[in-house]
Amino acid sequence: ILVVGGLGFIGSHTCWELAKAGYNVIIIDNLSNAFNSVFDRLEAMVAGHYQKLSGHRPSLKFFKADYRDKKAMTAVLEAYESPLGFALDPVESPIPRRSKITGVIHFAAHKAVGESIKQPLKYYANNVSGLIDFCSLLGDFGVKNFVFSSSATVYGTVADIGVPLREEYCSQDRTVFVDDDGKQKVQQSGCSGLTNPYGRTKWMCEAILNDLAHADPEWKITALRYFNPIGCDESGLLGEDPRDAATNLMPIVLRVITGRQHILNIYGDDYDTKDGTAVRDYIHVTDLARGHLAALKSRTDKGFKVYNLGTGTGHSVLEVVAAMEKVSNRKIPTQLVGRRDGDVGMCVAKPSRAQEELGWRTEKSLETCCRDVWRF
Ligand code: UD1
Repeated sequence: ILVVGGLGFIGSHTCWELAKAGYNVIIIDNLSNAFNSVFDRLEAMVAGHYQKLSGHRPSLKFFKADYRDKKAMTAVLEAYESPLGFALDPVESPIPRRSKITGVIHFAAHKAVGESIKQPLKYYANNVSGLIDFCSLLGDFGVKNFVFSSSATVYGTVADIGVPLREEYCSQDRTVFVDDDGKQKVQQSGCSGLTNPYGRTKWMCEAILNDLAHADPEWKITALRYFNPIGCDESGLLGEDPRDAATNLMPIVLRVITGRQHILNIYGDDYDTKDGTAVRDYIHVTDLARGHLAALKSRTDKGFKVYNLGTGTGHSVLEVVAAMEKVSNRKIPTQLVGRRDGDVGMCVAKPSRAQEELGWRTEKSLETCCRDVWRF
């Protein structure tokens, strides 16, 4: 499996789960928001794991490259070409390329909402143009099994309807479905209320991938809409360790609890939620990582499909703070400030499609997330 952006938070946890499941993994990362040391740690973890099992250890390779660097990516893809491809008439039908790479997982995107508002072209260039060129190249090599990191951000302000979000609420094709209230609904293709350029890149990428799968039915493309990944591997050896200053709740909570930031700002307590603070669907990153393996293994059909990866349960900012205080036995100083621009009050998944079609479900609670993060 080729994993681009494989040394970041979600990427590294997915590589670890892939290796434990016996997949050979090729990692591409430009280290723009990750460290080389993550690869060293992964290698040590995989070695330790297979030593204990005394089983055959899958290979783990790392190439430092930008996934947009066509020359570097071509070299990697060529290195994994299988010599099986041939054609009787190379002029009439060019030699089909065959690859030993059976699937690609793409994490190599920028994801900071605030930065995307200030530097939209950086986001469109990397997340959108990068995806187009990368898929063209993969297509040339006959690698057409693709898992894409999407985000619950594609639901935009639809999230605020206050019920768990079904994939149908943001569709890339016109969709007729029976909603949870028992009524038949028609969802036109498109989305509503996207609040920032980052969110738009995720929606555009889904739309592009859907068009690609319609045009070439050999593609199997799975877009996974992540809700709020937190936690880390239970070993405490892998975690969220970005180069950029994080803007997400859990890394900031960690900064406060370890004394690197003096107080946690709580963005708004006037939402229509249980305690007034915003509610999110926090999912343990190991559960999330395993969702990628489920997507690789369980999809038997081709074409473009989207799945929510969330728990189906919402927690407020105050609940996350309380859970972290409990496991660390430390007080987290907080101050109430106004709402953050672009935030929605509630964003919770309806995860039944992934449960039914991929046989995947989350196993870990908010408290487990906090314990693992604290160990890290
Ligand atoms: C954010 C992005 C989302 C992106 C996801 C992953 C926004 C508006 N949305 O989701 O598009 O896919 O990250 O990168 O930024 N909070 C505080 N204090 C803080 C930080 C956060 O109260 O210092 C609150 C937020 O208001 C929110 C919750 O914690 O209610 C979670 O925030 P965050 O971790 O940034 O995730 P999202 O905003 O859900």
